[in-house]
Amino acid sequence: MKIPDNLSPLLQQLLTEYQPLAREGKVASYIPALAQVDPDQAGVAFATLDGSVFKAGAAEQLFSLQSVSKIFGLVMAMNRLGDELWQRVNMEPSGQPFNSIVQLEWEHGIPRNPVINAGAILVADVLVSHYSASKTAFLTFLRSLCRCETIYADNKVYLSELEHGNRNAALAYLMKSFGNIESEVPQVLEHYFHQCATAINCEQLATSLLFLANRGVQPGSGIQVCSRRDAHRVNAILSTSGMYDQSGEFAFKVGLPAKSGVGGCIVAIVPQVGVIAAWSPPLNRFGNSVVAMQLISKLAEELGLSIF
Ligand code: DON
Repeated sequence: MKIPDNLSPLLQQLLTEYQPLAREGKVASYIPALAQVDPDQAGVAFATLDGSVFKAGAAEQLFSLQSVSKIFGLVMAMNRLGDELWQRVNMEPSGQPFNSIVQLEWEHGIPRNPVINAGAILVADVLVSHYSASKTAFLTFLRSLCRCETIYADNKVYLSELEHGNRNAALAYLMKSFGNIESEVPQVLEHYFHQCATAINCEQLATSLLFLANRGVQPGSGIQVCSRRDAHRVNAILSTSGMYDQSGEFAFKVGLPAKSGVGGCIVAIVPQVGVIAAWSPPLNRFGNSVVAMQLISKLAEELGLSIF
C-alpha cells in the first residue's frame, strides 16, 4: 500500500466534510463531567511507523480517553499474567451494549472479552492485584508510550464517574460473587475509573499505539512493548469487539482493528503502516463517535487500508 507523502490535506478535507455530522449524535451524559464538553470540536491524527504524524483540526486538544484506555490496561495485564488471563476473561464478541450485565450472569462471571466494561474491570483487578500502585503504573506506561511525561488523569472526570458508576459497580460485585475478582471492589473500580479519566489528544494517542501496528515493537526506540503474539491477539480482539455491538459493521465497512470511547475518540490500527486517532464528542446509539467513524471509514477506503 502506498501512503501519500503528506496526508494532512486529505485529513483536513475529510474533517471538513464529516464534521457537520456531529449534529446527528449526542455527547455522553451518563458521566456528567463528559456532558460539558464542546460538541463541535473535532480532530484527527495519523501517526506512521517512520515517525511522521499527520494531523488536522483539534488534534492537540485533550479529551477523555475512556474505553480506549482498555487497550493499555489489557497489554499491561497480558504482560503480567500471561495465558492465565484467558481463564478469567473470554475473547468472543458480546453482541451486547458495552455495559450490559445480563450475559455476565449467564456466563458465571466470566466476561465475554476484555474490552467490554466487565472485561476491563476484570483487567483492572489484575492490575490492582499485581502492582502496588496500579494507577501510577498505568500512567507511567502510557507516558512512556506517548513519550510525554505530562499525561494525567482528569480528577473532575474521575470523581464524576466514581459518583455515577453504579452499573460498573454492579458488574464488579457480580464478578466478585463468582470469585472472579481478587481485590476489593472499591479499589478495582477506582483504578478502572482513573484510567478511563486519562486526558489525552489525538496525536499522543496515535503515537502511543504504534507498537500494535509494528508487531509489539515501539518504532524509534525499538522497545518490545508486548510480544508479537500478544500484539496479534490485541488486534484480533479489537477487530471483533473494539466497536461493541457495531464491531461487525465496522469490520464490514472499514476492516481495521479499532477501539472507541465515550469521550468521542476512535483509534484504528493499520498493521505495518501506523495508527489513526479521530475525535469528535457526539456519539451514535452504540456509544461510538459519529464523525470519527465516518472519517476513519472514508480514509480507509481512500487509502485502501483494510486488512481484509
Ligand atoms: O465505564 C464506562 O462506562 C466508561 N468509563 C467507559 C465506557 C466507554 O467508553 C464505552 N465506549 N464506547
